Amino acid sequence: MNPLNYTDQHRERFLAELKDFLCIPSVSTQEQHRPDMQRAAKWLRDHLLAAGVPLTVIMETPGHPIVYAEWLVDPDAPTVLIYGHYDVQPPDPLELWRTEPFEPAEIGDDLFARGAADDKGQLYIHVKALEAFHETVGAPPVNIKCLFEGEEECGSPSLAPFIESHVELLAADVVVISDTHILGKETPAIIYALRGLAYVEVELTGPQHDLHSGIYGGAVHNPIHVLSELIAGLHDENGRITIPGFYDNVRELSAEERVELAKIPFDRETWLAEAAVTSDWGEEGYTVIERTSARPTLDVNGIWGGYTEPGAKTVLPSQAHAKISMRLVPDQSHERITRLITEHLQNIAPPTVTVKVQDLHGGAGAIIRRDSPEMRAAFDAYAATFGREPVFIREGGSIPVVAVFQEVLGIETIMLGFGLPDDNLHAPNEKFHIPNFYKGIETVIRFLNGVGEREGE
Ligand code: BES
Ligand code: ZN
Repeated sequence: MNPLNYTDQHRERFLAELKDFLCIPSVSTQEQHRPDMQRAAKWLRDHLLAAGVPLTVIMETPGHPIVYAEWLVDPDAPTVLIYGHYDVQPPDPLELWRTEPFEPAEIGDDLFARGAADDKGQLYIHVKALEAFHETVGAPPVNIKCLFEGEEECGSPSLAPFIESHVELLAADVVVISDTHILGKETPAIIYALRGLAYVEVELTGPQHDLHSGIYGGAVHNPIHVLSELIAGLHDENGRITIPGFYDNVRELSAEERVELAKIPFDRETWLAEAAVTSDWGEEGYTVIERTSARPTLDVNGIWGGYTEPGAKTVLPSQAHAKISMRLVPDQSHERITRLITEHLQNIAPPTVTVKVQDLHGGAGAIIRRDSPEMRAAFDAYAATFGREPVFIREGGSIPVVAVFQEVLGIETIMLGFGLPDDNLHAPNEKFHIPNFYKGIETVIRFLNGVGEREGE
């Protein structure tokens, strides 16, 4: 039997195991889930061992553990480093879920659960591809290393230091990551660029304590008003970000790349429906695809302060807060952008408030070479599995470790994603299209065979 047939014959068990994995609420940002993070790491280690991967260990970090695995088959064969994350976003707002986030529900062709697509389902594709090699031809066609982290959704604080201190352990010819989406069920895509991120939390303090708005209102500057004005001023009327110097290092799109991006299949109506909006918005002079993948952006992710419980309270609050994130493009540095927004907010805030800006996390964007043999192997693997050649696209989301792999290990990453644009990542009713789970396993088998230059079938 070959690995593809094996996969075909074991689909149901593979899916049942994935459901089991999804039952563990591995929410990395919430302290109360620390034991679940440990449980998820152990589950993953046990299933890697069961899949036949000979060396699998849990490596502690200052945060959540890293699951590292190794299957070295031939010193002359190339080495593929598989990266994934077993942590998930918090499930809230819970009331908007149609099923329980940690009780995976199969509805039609979709599997609903937090982490189904991001990233447990996509990570597990690799574990099952390795099992298929183990159970048929005995071993994968290349050397395998796996690096599965538990802190991706909170900015991977332990990962870069881990990579920097394990350069030799992680040495490889190429990295493969399945943590992105393709264009549609029948339209595979290869991502060749990712955006970076700079994430800050802003705290404005007006009066040192809350005040009665009848006694002081109108004579003391309300920090929520100030924050609203500051935020409103962060974009101009053309949708451009007003922070001085923000666009300084932005790598502009070449005319050639703009032509290429314009060829990506994009149906405006479908896009509007997926986003559940009636019109688009953004930086003047750029298409939706350019704005969402090749231009830097700024979003307020949360804003709070004062009284927000039911009923009325006539308070003039002492503080106002906001979480603000900026998606960056090459060659913007997240450290510099964090400094620029901090200085800008401090410069323009009136003397009636003090402004504190905290750096929550950040990471660099990346552009990946498209002419490597591994890229070719990915292209061929998608084409064979989906019966259609993949299109090259840029991703608006961020996977900062891709730049770390380039800089620290000197290796490129192949983004071998199998999600769909409507998978509801980070939102209620996250799902994974089950046929893509199986196609993912097939594609990974073909990809590894391609990298190892063995026949796919
Ligand atoms: N899987 C996503 C990255 C992604 C997002 C791919 C959208 C395709 C489309 C990843 O888990 C993620 O959410 N990354 C964070 C960045 C991180 C530094 C918190 C993101 O993009 O917000
Ligand atoms: Zn992810």
